Amino acid sequence: MTALETFIAGLPKAELHMHLEGSLEPELMFAIARRNKVDIPFKTVEAARAAYDFSNLQDFLDIYYRSTDVLRTEADFHDLTAAYLARVAADGARHVEVFFDPQTHTARGVEFSTVADGMLSALKSAQQTGLTSKLILCFLRHLSEEAAFETLRQAEPYLDRIAAVGLDSSEMGHPPSKFARVFAAARERGLRLVAHAGEEGPPAYVWEALDVLHVDRLDHGNRSLEDAALAERLVRDQMTLTVCPLSNLKLCVVKDMAAHPLKKMLALGLRATVNSDDPAYFGGYLNDNYRAAAAGVGLTRDEVVQLAKNSFLGSFLDGPSILRHLKDIDAYTAKFS
Ligand code: ADE
Ligand code: ZN
Repeated sequence: MTALETFIAGLPKAELHMHLEGSLEPELMFAIARRNKVDIPFKTVEAARAAYDFSNLQDFLDIYYRSTDVLRTEADFHDLTAAYLARVAADGARHVEVFFDPQTHTARGVEFSTVADGMLSALKSAQQTGLTSKLILCFLRHLSEEAAFETLRQAEPYLDRIAAVGLDSSEMGHPPSKFARVFAAARERGLRLVAHAGEEGPPAYVWEALDVLHVDRLDHGNRSLEDAALAERLVRDQMTLTVCPLSNLKLCVVKDMAAHPLKKMLALGLRATVNSDDPAYFGGYLNDNYRAAAAGVGLTRDEVVQLAKNSFLGSFLDGPSILRHLKDIDAYTAKFS
C-alpha cells in the first residue's frame, strides 16, 4: 500500500450514496436463492460477475432489478444490510445514509414492511457497535408520480425511521419535475430530499432538482460542470454532491479514472464526496472508491481529508455530531503527520 492508501484506510468517513440492493454480492445472492428455493439468472458466482460489464446505466439497472428477485423475507433484507454495514465499517465508516428501492419489491408482492423491518433491524444492530445510519427511501423515476405517492403512503408508519426521500433509476426521459408534487408532500412530512441528477442527464435536470424539487443534496451531479452558472450556483449553496467514481467508470460516465471530474470539482469549491453507489456491481466499496479516485486523478492528502470532511458536512447528522466527526478527522490526520 502507498502511504496515501494507508492514510485512507483508517480515515474516519461517512458514506452518503449507496443503494442497499446494490450491495448484493453474488455469493449472498446464491445463498439466499438456495434458502428461498428461487431461480436466479446466473449459473455460478463467476458467471454473475462476468455479466457485470455495462455500457450505460440502463444495462446495469436491467441486471440489478433482476437480481433483487431473490430477496423475499425480512431475514433476506436484514442479511443484505448487515453484510454491507460490516464491510463499510471495516473501511473506517462512522456513519452511512443508505438508499432502498421499495417499489422494486412491492411490485413483486413483497410487503413494504418486510423490506423496511429487515433493513431497520440490521441498521439498529450496527448502531450498537458505533456505526450510525439513516435510511433514504428512493422513488423509481421510470414509474409514475402516482406510484411514488402510493409508496409514500405505504411508508407512513415508518416515517419516524426514514430520514429522506430520493429519486433513482433510469434518468434520461424522467426529469426531476415529474416528481415535484410527491417531493413537496415528502417535505411536508418532515423528510429531507435528495435526487440523482446529472449522472447521464443534462444540466437542466440538475437545475430542476434544485429549483423544482428543492433538494438538500444532489446525487452524482457530474454533468453540472458543463454549465458554469450551474457550477457557480452549487458552490454558492455549498450543495453536497455524492460522487461515485467506480460507478462512473463502470457505467461509462467517464472514459477512464484519469478523466474523472472529482479533482476539478474540489478545485472549483464544490462540496464533493466519495461513495460506492452499488459496490457489488461496480468493483469496490468505499475505500476502493477513495483509492481508485486518488490514483486516477492524483488527489493530495489534503484533498482526501476534504472529501472525508465533506462526507460529514453533507450528511443529515445534527451539528454537534458533525463537529465531533470533523475533530476525529483532524486528530487522525495530526497523528499521521
Ligand atoms: N439505482 C441504483 N444505482 C443507480 C444509479 N447509479 N443511478 C440511478 N439509479 C440507480
Ligand atoms: Zn445511485
